[in-house]
Amino acid sequence: MNQADLAVLNCSQLLTCRSPIPKRRNALQDVGLVKNGSIASLNGKIVFIGDEEAFHHEIQMTDEGVCIDGKGLVGLPGFVDSHTHLPFAGTREEEFVLRLKGYTYQQLAQKGLGIQTTVNATRKASEEELLSLCLSRLDSMLLHGTTTTEAKSGYGLNLDDELKQLRVLKKANKIHPIDIVSTFMGAHEVPREYKGRKNEYIELITQKILPEVKKSSLAEFFDVFCEEGVYSVEETRYLVQAAKDKGLKIKIHADEFEPLGGTQLAAEEGATSVDHLTAITEEGIKKIVQSETVATLLPGVSFFLMQEKKAPSRKLIEEGAIVSLATDFNPGSSMTESMYFILQLAVFTLKMGIEEAINAATVNASYALGRFEQVGSLELGKKMDLILFDAPNYPSLVYHLGINPIKHVIKNGNVVVQERKILRSPVDSY
Ligand code: NIG
Ligand code: FE
Repeated sequence: MNQADLAVLNCSQLLTCRSPIPKRRNALQDVGLVKNGSIASLNGKIVFIGDEEAFHHEIQMTDEGVCIDGKGLVGLPGFVDSHTHLPFAGTREEEFVLRLKGYTYQQLAQKGLGIQTTVNATRKASEEELLSLCLSRLDSMLLHGTTTTEAKSGYGLNLDDELKQLRVLKKANKIHPIDIVSTFMGAHEVPREYKGRKNEYIELITQKILPEVKKSSLAEFFDVFCEEGVYSVEETRYLVQAAKDKGLKIKIHADEFEPLGGTQLAAEEGATSVDHLTAITEEGIKKIVQSETVATLLPGVSFFLMQEKKAPSRKLIEEGAIVSLATDFNPGSSMTESMYFILQLAVFTLKMGIEEAINAATVNASYALGRFEQVGSLELGKKMDLILFDAPNYPSLVYHLGINPIKHVIKNGNVVVQERKILRSPVDSY
């Protein structure tokens, strides 16, 4: 008999999202449903998935083992949020109110609002303040089902403040149950003090900040905002190649407002993901479909900016791209920590099927973070990262709006949210 130290028995629906490779086209419609499914883990790794009868034959619980009754619950792999700008200080309600009066995001950025506002606030914040902001946001993420997240720097835009953001992420990763994958995004904007001297800032990134990031192992990924008025395709290529030389993996913010061709560049450079894609061209779609680069869609942004134009999700799926979903959590264009809300938005605003959206927020999202072998689906040997919804069936997760039905969250085989409350271990002081 195999041993387990955690088991959830008899969930009315257990969605495994299992797959040997990231999901494209019709595979996105299969959520790997196990009816009346039971699941068990030992030391954080899944050791059993099946029905309750098989569980009793095959599994013996350890003395301290915990058994949860899954009756009436729907189980899903923990959400993987592959795109967030988590370590920021200050909020931007003032800018939001102006947008409600008709100003566009780009008009406000030209007025000196936008990213620069958050850069000013983040530069002023101490490491302790930034850490405490991150930890409480991570709590919100966890309560909404995220168990692994990416997080970017990019509101420091100088050596000290970029490193400060990345150090905060490293600490948060040690303290908080959510696994954090860090991205260095010094090329999020051109800082005000480098106006008209963009090349000098690019040199600062490649010659000074990148080597420090590498030396202190502060990031696994590198990201650039490839957009008109920010970084051109050629500048992005130069930056990306410098980051690859240092051994970082690549993500690119591309084709958000203007179709510059950042998507093609991402495919050519073997980026792990290319994100936004609201203005992607036919050429971009063709290139991304033939690549292993994940097309990460961010429906929170078009919703929050109230844009008519949406990423061509149907076309991307039907042509065969690896589509994933993320929050793009940031104070300017998507102020939400909730992957659960993003899942709903993908169905309501991007015309994705419920199954497609679930796979895009879990298994494909893990591929967008280079964590496909560890998380994103419920499979033997993978991490026991599980969300348990108090819902009659999985379509209800999208159908029933405006509430949070997440009852329990399990991370790495530990119950971290129980009865809708975060459980703190005695050493947690945050
Ligand atoms: O991903 N597009 C660029 N960056 C963010 C917005 C950042 C901000 O407005 O603070 C994004 O949407
Ligand atoms: Fe972003």
